[in-house]
Amino acid sequence: MLIEHEALRHQWHAVAESAVLGAAGAETPRGVRLLGDDYVVWRGPDGDIVAAPDRCTHRETPLSLGTVAGGCLTCPYHGWRFGAGGACIAVPSSGEGAPVPPRAHLPAVHALEAYGLIWLCPGEPEGDLPLISQEADPRYRRINSGVETWATSATRMTDNFLDISHFGWVHRDTFGRDELLEVPTIELRELDDGWYGYSYEVEVGNDKGGAAVSGEEGDTVHRRMSTGMHLPFTVRSTIHYQSGLDHIILLCSTPIDDVTSYFTFVVWRNDDVDVPGEEIIAFDRRIGAEDKLMLERVPGVLPLDHRRTVSVQADRASVEWRRRLAGMLGGTTDAQA
Ligand code: FES
Ligand SMILES: [Fe+2]
Repeated sequence: MLIEHEALRHQWHAVAESAVLGAAGAETPRGVRLLGDDYVVWRGPDGDIVAAPDRCTHRETPLSLGTVAGGCLTCPYHGWRFGAGGACIAVPSSGEGAPVPPRAHLPAVHALEAYGLIWLCPGEPEGDLPLISQEADPRYRRINSGVETWATSATRMTDNFLDISHFGWVHRDTFGRDELLEVPTIELRELDDGWYGYSYEVEVGNDKGGAAVSGEEGDTVHRRMSTGMHLPFTVRSTIHYQSGLDHIILLCSTPIDDVTSYFTFVVWRNDDVDVPGEEIIAFDRRIGAEDKLMLERVPGVLPLDHRRTVSVQADRASVEWRRRLAGMLGGTTDAQA
């Protein structure tokens, strides 16, 4: 099983958007599932994210069914309250101020916020978050897309996001064109901000909704692009238009279990902020839906031993990503994966 690899527990995984935890006065806990385990996530009293197994220490009630006020999470069954770091701070049946049992505290896991997303690391963090330097650049705005659940493996998603040879087939109703069926030679190299991958230039379709995103007229539009990987399952796609417009997409795939995953993407643009973000990402949503439709028809986990599937020149990035991921997971992944 892919998700049983201990190494994945020591990496950061995007599980939700910060916005789902609600604003002050309307806070809410959120239940998420990561690597086969359920967690509750809420915003604690100091504003930091608290994440812990979604199981009350008293009678195992899912705490995601509870309520949050002032950063404290209240269990719906007997009202035990949990605060910063998952510490149990009140057991109502014992009376005001009574000491709480030492084992009542929740075993919190590492959690942080970045790029409008909540990231969890169930073990001790060994990897870094992917870096998007535009996040700190005032010329760029960020647009979050929400989190979807896809009935496919995070391995198949990451492989897909690194792949450009499906553009002319899967994305015919968005930016695909017959001219994209043959792809440029892929030369892997270090990209900026610690990403590893390749860059290329393409002429993509602009006549099926693309103009709203590219800001350019015409049936096709020229793009300078790059595709980069960050272990275990994030991909960055950068698009540079001749007008000087940049459109940067972070694609996150998170294993809920082996064959179910969260998908979220985040866009950074140096554009005219009068156009609502939702209009800008509508085209990317359609592209994502095309990938989802295809991937959900492909069963199982992608074998991490690249020799078990046939790859060609166009698949170089995926082959390298699988080699690196297999290395991270300990090398002997394929009997199980
Ligand atoms: S089960 Fe949570 S307080 Fe009893
Ligand atoms: Fe795609």
